[in-house]
Amino acid sequence: MKKATAFSLAIALTGAAFITSCNNNQTTTEKMETKAGITKAAWGNTDGKDVFLYTLTNAKGVQVKISNYGATVTSWVSPDKNNKPSSIVLGFDSLSGYLAKPPYFGAVVGRYGNRIAKGKFKIDNTQYTLATNNGSNALHGGLKGFDKQVWDASTQNDSTASLLLSYTSKDGEEGYPGNLKVTVRYTLTNDDELKIEYNATTDKPTVLNLTNHSYFNLTGDVSNSILDETLMIDADNYTPVDTTLIPTGEIKPVKGTPFDFTKAKKIGLEIGAVSGGYDHNFVLNKKDSSLQKIAALKDSISGRTLEVFTTQPGVQFYTGNFLDGTLSTPGAKKINQHAALCLETQHFPDSPNQPKFPTTLLLPGEQFHSVTVYKLSVN
Ligand code: BGC
Repeated sequence: MKKATAFSLAIALTGAAFITSCNNNQTTTEKMETKAGITKAAWGNTDGKDVFLYTLTNAKGVQVKISNYGATVTSWVSPDKNNKPSSIVLGFDSLSGYLAKPPYFGAVVGRYGNRIAKGKFKIDNTQYTLATNNGSNALHGGLKGFDKQVWDASTQNDSTASLLLSYTSKDGEEGYPGNLKVTVRYTLTNDDELKIEYNATTDKPTVLNLTNHSYFNLTGDVSNSILDETLMIDADNYTPVDTTLIPTGEIKPVKGTPFDFTKAKKIGLEIGAVSGGYDHNFVLNKKDSSLQKIAALKDSISGRTLEVFTTQPGVQFYTGNFLDGTLSTPGAKKINQHAALCLETQHFPDSPNQPKFPTTLLLPGEQFHSVTVYKLSVN
């Protein structure tokens, strides 16, 4: 294996890991004995800032790679039921893949994840106007949202590997009011959980909706459609949308509709009855902002299960409807429609224009805090 530009930090535990190293644009993957902890490798430069790729390894040798470009999860390599390692998320092995603006693979999206109708909202009587980058609507924070920014990073290495990413979004950036200080902490636990903690403060009233936009395919192979995976979402209701995917404002029961995932079912079972495929916000049954399990995704090919826990009130279930084969994996496999899915924990889309939805307003003096955990297991 070629030696990557990597700085190993303090280390606690040992395990077998599957290491991907990038050097001179070449990527090599091999199994080796490694130690739990976090390493940092140079990964290029953009906007005059250095970009790094961090590798978080747990005691079992499971590895999650995260870049400070867009606070992006680029891979999550774990063994399947036959002990064969593969990544359960879509991603690229070089920065250039991300600079080509893929549809938010693995990134943190913000300041407002998902859509704001016509790119307009009011706070007190002041009207704010955002770029409309998705038909007539604003999507995922604008032309240069948090997914396209270089974040500051610091690492922590005790019993679990943890990466803290920070970004200050200036007053007026992408049309949003207030200087917003955001941190995202990623922690990979020894129970194969990827924990994501978001914190933010503002100096003017603003709106905020932060999520991670990882695309999962539990088989680890994009040639397998996610329509064969099985999903449970603990939501009795969802928010119907208009033809531009903006919520109509109604909160409708899933019972008797293709949106009923309250009992685990194959994703492909009723997708044909959903125009365009699933791209909807589910209103979670949880009644408060405690961390609770809200979804479980299972795949029989790999034996993997992904459970999702969140403090947030909603989840956007998106079946990769707009993936169309123009992008390829590092292994040169085409990423076709339904090659991966997203479970984006969030507040509801267009909340700033929907008084009945839980508020996304953040005021000076308030501390925004949310947590999402993706827990992987195999049997
Ligand atoms: C949205 C989709 C969009 C995708 C990629 C999802 O959060 O709901 O409509 O195509 O992100 O941008």
